[in-house]
Amino acid sequence: MKILMVCLGNICRSPIAEGVLRHKVKEHGLDWTVESAGTNSYHTGEAPHKYSQKVCLEHGIDISGQRARTFTKNDFDTYDVIYAFAGDVVADIRKIAGNAEMSKVKYFLNELHPGKNESVPDPWYGDESGYLPVYQLIDETCNAIIEKYK
Ligand code: 4NP
Repeated sequence: MKILMVCLGNICRSPIAEGVLRHKVKEHGLDWTVESAGTNSYHTGEAPHKYSQKVCLEHGIDISGQRARTFTKNDFDTYDVIYAFAGDVVADIRKIAGNAEMSKVKYFLNELHPGKNESVPDPWYGDESGYLPVYQLIDETCNAIIEKYK
């Protein structure tokens, strides 16, 4: 199972999801690949946002070694599931996809609330208080992903 988490910048939301799901995959002894990317390249090469790192570390997960990268069309060949974190991310992925098969692309939160096509709130635009609720939402959704595919 190869999973890619995709948000806009790959510094706030999807790096948390990469760290959290990798942690759970290890706990369950599963042989999955979990990575993340962003549809824009503004932050390519950067470590996750300091508050994303902090909230993960407070839950025993060190994501400081992760680096942002840009989503590419080749990712459609590499991954089984591509989780989009928001509606604007789906629109970006569709543009990058060209003739690639969009059926691999799913709203991340549909694993928690099927069929609702909800977006994970972007904490980038707020202060530190936004990061814990986002972490908790991601954690809950990663539990659902483990239960579904393990
Ligand atoms: P993310 O948050 O998509 O959760 O990583 C963002 C980070 C940076 C920007 C937008 C969203 N930005 O426009 O720089």
